[in-house]
Amino acid sequence: MSERPYVIDQMISAKSIAARIEELCTEIHNEFEGTDKLVVVGLLRGSFVFIADLVRELDLPVEVDFLEASSYGDGMESSREVRILKDLRGAIEARDVLVVEDIVDTGHTLNHVTNLLKSRNPARLKSIALLDKPSRREVDFKADWTGFEIPDEFVVGYGIDFAQRNRNLPYIGTVRFID
Ligand code: IMP
Ligand code: MG
Repeated sequence: MSERPYVIDQMISAKSIAARIEELCTEIHNEFEGTDKLVVVGLLRGSFVFIADLVRELDLPVEVDFLEASSYGDGMESSREVRILKDLRGAIEARDVLVVEDIVDTGHTLNHVTNLLKSRNPARLKSIALLDKPSRREVDFKADWTGFEIPDEFVVGYGIDFAQRNRNLPYIGTVRFID
């Protein structure tokens, strides 16, 4: 699939992303102001750029942890399972937790991960996704904060990959095949 030639058209500039992160961090700061027990949890691998910019804009004492989840079809199209490939290093009981995701698409991943983390009894659990494709939703899930709502297009950049490539683009772009 990655052998097919394609170009990337810019959808959201690095400047727009930075401006939106500033706005989001004001809201996140208001939510968590006064806390000394915030753990920011990045979902690997797509959120690594977003979480890096987010925590540097957030003027709060934070710890950073990572979790890797993988979703796959089990042979029936309508059924999705999410597996935890790498769990958190730290306990989150009685902690404030902010889960950071790159994109909410069908919703299965964040729905599963937030339910799992809730079962560990955090004091507060919030979620943020840089991008949201609401038209693709299969389970009723909405992140507490969303950077940008986008149409049903395949995007790359700013941490997000196509066949593991393009994560290092500083902007979000759409993949357009040219063959
Ligand atoms: P879902 O919400 O469980 O369907 O899965 C969200 C995950 O699917 C994201 O974390 C991405 O890894 C991946 N994903 C969804 N849409 C895109 C896209 O447009 N480009 C690259 N990865 C995507
Ligand atoms: Mg992902």
